[in-house]
Amino acid sequence: MVARAKPGTAGHDSPAPAGGAPRPPPAPGARGGRLAERASGPAPGLAGSRAEVGPQGGGRSRGGRSRVRRRQDPRSLAYWGHCPLRVRRGGAMRKAGPLLALSAGAWRSVRMASSGMARRDPLANKVALVTASTDGIGFAIARRLAQDGAHVVISSRKQQNVDRAVATLQGEGLSVTGTVCHVGKAEDRERLVATAVSLHGGIDILVSNAAVNPFFGNLMDVTEEVWDKILDINVKATALMTKAVVPEMEKRGGGSVVIVASIGAYFPFPGLGPYNVSKTALLGLTKNLARELDQRNIRVNCLAPGLIKTSFSQVLWKDKEREESIKEIMQIRRIGKPDECAGIVSFLCSEDASYITGETVVVGGGTLSRL
Ligand SMILES: NC(=O)c1ccc[n+]([C@@H]2O[C@H](COP(=O)([O-])OP(=O)(O)OC[C@H]3O[C@@H](n4cnc5c(N)ncnc54)[C@H](OP(=O)(O)O)[C@@H]3O)[C@@H](O)[C@H]2O)c1
Repeated sequence: MVARAKPGTAGHDSPAPAGGAPRPPPAPGARGGRLAERASGPAPGLAGSRAEVGPQGGGRSRGGRSRVRRRQDPRSLAYWGHCPLRVRRGGAMRKAGPLLALSAGAWRSVRMASSGMARRDPLANKVALVTASTDGIGFAIARRLAQDGAHVVISSRKQQNVDRAVATLQGEGLSVTGTVCHVGKAEDRERLVATAVSLHGGIDILVSNAAVNPFFGNLMDVTEEVWDKILDINVKATALMTKAVVPEMEKRGGGSVVIVASIGAYFPFPGLGPYNVSKTALLGLTKNLARELDQRNIRVNCLAPGLIKTSFSQVLWKDKEREESIKEIMQIRRIGKPDECAGIVSFLCSEDASYITGETVVVGGGTLSRL
């Protein structure tokens, strides 16, 4: 059964953005929420270069033998036992102590920087829109993007869910605002874009996470209305939401889109035919958008979660016996958590993924994922 927007929710006229006063624009460059529009059918559901040279720079000796030190950790005694900076006598050794410590610290910093460990706020000053982000996977993604430095505009159909999610994340000191957006409504999509532009001056990131599943049963029993609903929200709205943000991303010189599909795109879940098909379509949408938008410096990638513990998927894990049988198809024999979907999305949106587009990353605990 399709749930209709209630007054004050998706159909609401121009709801005020949640989250109070916005931060200044960056330089150029809820619980209880559910996919109410679902029926009894559930959704299926970085180190870096090791220190290869010594602190002396690793030049060559007269004999031509490399003084390059391999596979030794500058923090280890063995490493410093071979180091020219070593001073053997007691007093001098003591004086050298702080120097050695300093060198080791600096060396560690170099290693961390080369591995990205020291890089903080990889999404600093980025503006991110996340649809369907007041609960579950979307909420975890919104939180992670904000933790990684982005200004995040969260959204879903219901104002109270938006208010609750914004309050929670602002309470954690994160730069988060929100507005109502039912992704199936053109005026809501436009308002979401306008809210981000007016609060933060532009858009760099879109995470398209909204989906519905109002049907459980055989494909032969699916009505035209159900097909329309699932394809409208899960596929068409994703394409139109992307279309709405692209002009704003272009003004910023590029951007990143992540589309949330499902392991059901690869591995059809029984009884969820139309939902599975819609998610397979998102793999194709990702490829097509990536190809079309690469000239505009916009990357488009996809996340395919496996079974993640949210209210959307509870039919699959609420019953213990069913949960155990579902774990059988996973290499990692447990159900995933929303947070486990969030880091990869932040990575895909960051400069670390600057050469990745048109790809789908499965976060499915090892569930089979081949078309
Ligand atoms: N959980 C899983 O096992 C799993 C597995 C694979 C893929 N996925 C995918 O992950 C995404 C999120 O699922 P979830 O499990 O995190 O769901 P969830 O915990 O039930 O959260 C659903 C969110 O979507 C919002 N929402 C529902 N319909 C919307 C619409 N038409 N427009 C805008 N927002 C809407 C809800 O808020 P309101 O009620 O306020 O609108 C809520 O914030 C979906 O695309 C789903 O297909 C989930």
